[in-house]
Amino acid sequence: MQMCCWSRLSITGRAKEYDDWFLRLGRYDRGEEATRRWFEQVEEVRGALRSLPLDEKNIVELAPGTGLWTEELCDRAAHLTAVDASAEMNALNRERLGERARDVTYIEADLFEWDSAEVFDAVVFCFWMSHIPTSRIVGFLSKVARMLTPGGTVFFLDARKEHTSTAKDHILPDDNEEVMTRRLDDGREFSIIKNFWSATELEDKCQRAGLEVHVHETKDYFQFGIGTRR
Ligand SMILES: C[S@@+](CC[C@H](N)C(=O)[O-])C[C@H]1O[C@@H](n2cnc3c(N)ncnc32)[C@H](O)[C@@H]1O
Repeated sequence: MQMCCWSRLSITGRAKEYDDWFLRLGRYDRGEEATRRWFEQVEEVRGALRSLPLDEKNIVELAPGTGLWTEELCDRAAHLTAVDASAEMNALNRERLGERARDVTYIEADLFEWDSAEVFDAVVFCFWMSHIPTSRIVGFLSKVARMLTPGGTVFFLDARKEHTSTAKDHILPDDNEEVMTRRLDDGREFSIIKNFWSATELEDKCQRAGLEVHVHETKDYFQFGIGTRR
């Protein structure tokens, strides 16, 4: 088994499988009832994102991946910047957006190294924070705060610890563990960082980083934070 960071994993094949996870296909199909609940809760999150004041704003999306959320943001932003470490993910993102990708500035960079030269009205990141080691999370959130104009909006989304969220043959990490084995469709296995924090732990980490955030949870699957820079 190989130990790797998420971006390396995406380059080695996960990029193609990523949408299967979100769309509940193949090994991620946990039955009709679970799929119905999943998409109901996706819509709840989408509704929350749509209620935010993002129209005509200068937005940055961190780790946008294949663009499942980039589409939403691109249609509303005055300008959208998308920063992902994986060239393959950026390419899939462009493909999904089609003509609209012309309005997006794509940056290929490691978010732990990258520092933005500009400040944004909003910073959005989905299903990325759980892949950050605990020791680096407040540092990352502080970087988010520095990217934001005072009063600017932060929105993040991640998975709750629910075993039907992941593939049938994946085992989520035990409490106090942050590494799990991720198996690809072709059978290769990688150890990846996967953290689950409670809503209050996340709110506290945001507070320490200079962000006032309220973390909401859907019934089973998702956890999302909405807030502003102090
Ligand atoms: C789980 S995916 C989430 C994609 C997308 N936000 C979504 O919700 O569909 C995580 C993304 O983080 C990117 N990533 C992993 N490590 C990174 C790093 N150090 N810097 C920037 N992006 C990274 C991966 O390439 C991948 O696109």
